[in-house]
Amino acid sequence: MPPLPDLDFVRSQFPGLKQDCTFFDNAGGSQILKSAVDRINTFLFEKNVQIGGSYAVSQSAAAALHEARQAGMTLVNAARPEEIVFGPSTTVLLQNLSRAMESQFVPGDEIIVTVSDHESNIGPWDRLQASGVVVKFWPLDRETLTLKLEDLEPLMSERTRLVAVTHVSNILGAVNDIRAIADFVHARGALICVDAVAYAPHRAIDVQAFDADFYVFSLYKVFGPHYALMYGKYALLAELDTLYHYFYGKEKVPGKLEPGNPNYELAYATCGIVDYLTGLGERAGETGSSRMKVEAAYRAITAQEEALSERLLAYMRARNDCTIIGDASADGRRRVPTIAFRLDGRDAADICRKVDGFQVAIRHGDFHSRRLAEYLGLTDHGGMLRVSMVHYNTIEEVDRLTAALDTILSDGSSVS
Ligand SMILES: Cc1ncc(COP(=O)(O)O)c(C=O)c1O
Repeated sequence: MPPLPDLDFVRSQFPGLKQDCTFFDNAGGSQILKSAVDRINTFLFEKNVQIGGSYAVSQSAAAALHEARQAGMTLVNAARPEEIVFGPSTTVLLQNLSRAMESQFVPGDEIIVTVSDHESNIGPWDRLQASGVVVKFWPLDRETLTLKLEDLEPLMSERTRLVAVTHVSNILGAVNDIRAIADFVHARGALICVDAVAYAPHRAIDVQAFDADFYVFSLYKVFGPHYALMYGKYALLAELDTLYHYFYGKEKVPGKLEPGNPNYELAYATCGIVDYLTGLGERAGETGSSRMKVEAAYRAITAQEEALSERLLAYMRARNDCTIIGDASADGRRRVPTIAFRLDGRDAADICRKVDGFQVAIRHGDFHSRRLAEYLGLTDHGGMLRVSMVHYNTIEEVDRLTAALDTILSDGSSVS
């Protein structure tokens, strides 16, 4: 088991954590690193001009954008910085991707999406039905609530062009084996597009090891600002249509996919995220490359997350009125600390409001994974409750939540 991270150091890097609030809604959005905010400030105060000019400040702005792509490359282990595309959100990046791919599809081509995905990785593909594309749903195994290749197999055909799948469901918290899915999909001649939003804050990303074709996540859930990043294999990005002006030809990768330019200062914040992770990796004893330090950081993050998950799941397992939605084990290879649950006879919205009173932030509903909530039949009574933790959370915070739940649930009331 890798050593736990130094939590005093970790928490000191997030100014927002000084507030009297236990942040357990991290899958909605994490706290931001000071190092990320510093990069934004540095850009705005020292480099705030358009890139492409010959003057020094413009050159410095262009260098900052390049550095941001290199940081993105280190974060995901891409082969080259041009494989990093920035955009406002995962939703927009996936909508852009489907638009830029649309001309590659002909009527009768098939795309497979999963019932467990956030709508961001379903809607943009579903939309292509208007061009004659056939969209099929990969169901979850009802017993294990996992995606199984044997359920994908009968959906695949010679017309399957793309499988869009989440790395981790933002409700179930289970880690899907992207490499195994990619191998399966590639062997049948299709591409894979991965929504990694609920994975990226928790485990090291290695797009080359995963053999992902497109891989997208949101920086505001990975300790950065409201911004997002898409990785694509260079050769595949080069095939996409331009989303920019006509004179941005196909060869303009990634600029043709960033119409109106990326937001320079928010992109530059990626450097602050990688600075933090490499620092955390050094503290874990790693002395190798930046990439090796990032991987070491995620090992320490996993250790802390497993401890948090186990504390909360043990509490839930011990209650006879609590149903954990998904894997009840804390094993960091199988799940991240995004834990959804229901309490018998209780309205999730009401519980959430009561938990607010203890300065603990959790959330309820369907988390925009509406099709999954419907598939599970869990849309009534405020939907599901979700506690989503990250490595800066503490065991004491878990205890604060469980004490609050004990108090709230002792009133004996139930939904009518
Ligand atoms: C799993 C998952 N995918 C996609 C999204 C959408 O991300 P964004 O808000 O950047 O569009 C979210 C947001 O909660 C999410 O949890």
